[in-house]
Amino acid sequence: MCGIVGYIGNKEASPILLRGLKRLEYRGYDSAGMAIRTEKGIEKLRRVGRVQNLSLALQSDPLHGTVGISHTRWATHGGVTEENAHPHISSDGMFSLVHNGVIENFSSMRKFLEGKGYTFRSETDSEALVNLIAYHYAKEPEDENGESRFLRSVRKALLHVEGTYGIAVICADYPDVMIGARLGSPLIVGLGKEENFIASDVGALVGATLNVIYLNDGELVELTRDNYQVITADEEWVDAVIHQVDWEVEDSELGDFDHYMLKEIFEQPRALENAMRGRFSQDGSSSKFGGLNIGARELRQVERIVFCGCGTAWHSCLVAEYLIEKYARIPVEVEYASEFRYRNAPLDKDTLIFVVSQSGETIDTLAALREAKRKGYRTLAINNVVGSTIARETDGGIYQHAGPEIGVASTKAFTSQLVLVSMVALHLGRLRDMSFSAGVSFVNTLRELPALVEKTLLVNDQLKEIANRYSQFDDCLFLGRQLMFPVALEGALKLKEISYVHAEGYPAAEMKHGPIALICEECPSVFLVSGGEIFQKTIANMQEVKARKGKVIAIATDDCVIPDGLVDELVVVPAVDDPALPIIMSIPLQLLSYHIAVARGCDVDKPRNLAKSVTVE
Ligand code: F6R
Repeated sequence: MCGIVGYIGNKEASPILLRGLKRLEYRGYDSAGMAIRTEKGIEKLRRVGRVQNLSLALQSDPLHGTVGISHTRWATHGGVTEENAHPHISSDGMFSLVHNGVIENFSSMRKFLEGKGYTFRSETDSEALVNLIAYHYAKEPEDENGESRFLRSVRKALLHVEGTYGIAVICADYPDVMIGARLGSPLIVGLGKEENFIASDVGALVGATLNVIYLNDGELVELTRDNYQVITADEEWVDAVIHQVDWEVEDSELGDFDHYMLKEIFEQPRALENAMRGRFSQDGSSSKFGGLNIGARELRQVERIVFCGCGTAWHSCLVAEYLIEKYARIPVEVEYASEFRYRNAPLDKDTLIFVVSQSGETIDTLAALREAKRKGYRTLAINNVVGSTIARETDGGIYQHAGPEIGVASTKAFTSQLVLVSMVALHLGRLRDMSFSAGVSFVNTLRELPALVEKTLLVNDQLKEIANRYSQFDDCLFLGRQLMFPVALEGALKLKEISYVHAEGYPAAEMKHGPIALICEECPSVFLVSGGEIFQKTIANMQEVKARKGKVIAIATDDCVIPDGLVDELVVVPAVDDPALPIIMSIPLQLLSYHIAVARGCDVDKPRNLAKSVTVE
């Protein structure tokens, strides 16, 4: 959360920073600001609200210069005001800083600095850091041993920080230098031709450069227009590795769609193809993953798998539990990463820890991964953003290749995680009890998925009509059994996060144990219905809702015959085998949430209070 973009080059910085901020706005949209090294020194402009407000302000109050830093904020310390917006400038006017993360010891830092005469204008933790840098600068001698006074002051100040940070800093005395640093919050360096960048997220650099350095925790970078140097907080020079980003500009453009969320829903056939590409064995009976870094013999010895994630990714973990237990017969537990990291759960040596994260930067998921590694467990990850912190720290993993997901509500990243957990179940199953023919049938089911998702997307218009009929309700239940239960949870999460409708997901039978009290004409229930052994049971649960005058919206596979008069709305999707079922069922739920949010006039891509990539605890 919080987006950072910094630029140093020969072009006007402000349009470049604005472009980057717009691409990063999903990381926070409480306020936005930038600071530019102008002829007068460092000047800043900040506005509460969206990047658009900053953009308008810049039209009447332009900032000219070729070096600058900028920020889009998701508030942690201090309310949403212009004073609390970034960048912050040290009280002596020497430094400006943008910060993503939380400085836990900022109160004592602030008290100390106030005692030394530094003054504060905001309630933020970040302002303490910029003043601490100024404090060190005032004490430090000139450049020495190849290290500038600027760099040394930042480095020394950071040694006193408890907490997390991704920062970009500029200094009035050094008009041709920009510094970045990270600890616990992501920071990327973009290398261009006679221009360099700092960003909290690769997305900001798309279209500007494809060459990036992923800073590691405890590293700082000093950038000029045509050079860079990476150093650790302990003063060791680092030979940084340059990576190539494979995202295209079009991946981040809205195209003909009204919202990124809708675009990303419709991108799912392609995202699924990309997730599966090259990952089936030659005999067509299993899956294979280049990056797992764990051999067949070791995988056969795994006695338990613990999956960890947050939010939507946690729902993918729940689907993994159903599929892996069913097809590979390995016991699976699913943990919220935020709980697992502090729980000190007893695990045995043959336990595998699998984390799932679209961004690869979610702090709780990262902490769960680190905790597992510290205790010596083998860790794997499913992750979308190449080069993310989780991708770099896990022992092995699987990239989703879903392309950038910009809508704050996860859609294509979710279903691409689902196809990958299915493929993991297949891989593990084929190393154990699953027969060749069962493996072939599993693979065929997955291979048909992109076309079937394409077909399922045809329900879009119907869902729009349904959404218009139900958009005024403020409560909604999502009910499904077995594999449909995590999908119901995800359906509820999607609806509440983008349309602010109170929604809950339950196993359909569990409804009788409490939530049934909510059933009334104003609280519709969305049932996920598939054929097979639990069909009749689900029908019985629908009867229970209907008997209490509850409205029923059924999403049913085309092999189900729903009794007359039982449902108010029926959305039919293709019948598929279990490995593909959660994916097919998710599509109408995504569309339902989307259209309800639009009908309620909500800001679909930037729901209130949320931000993508949660890098604070
Ligand atoms: C909901 C959503 C969030 C994320 C969660 C984890 O639509 O997007 O619940 O799933 O914040 O994010 P990642 O997957 O980046 O770790």
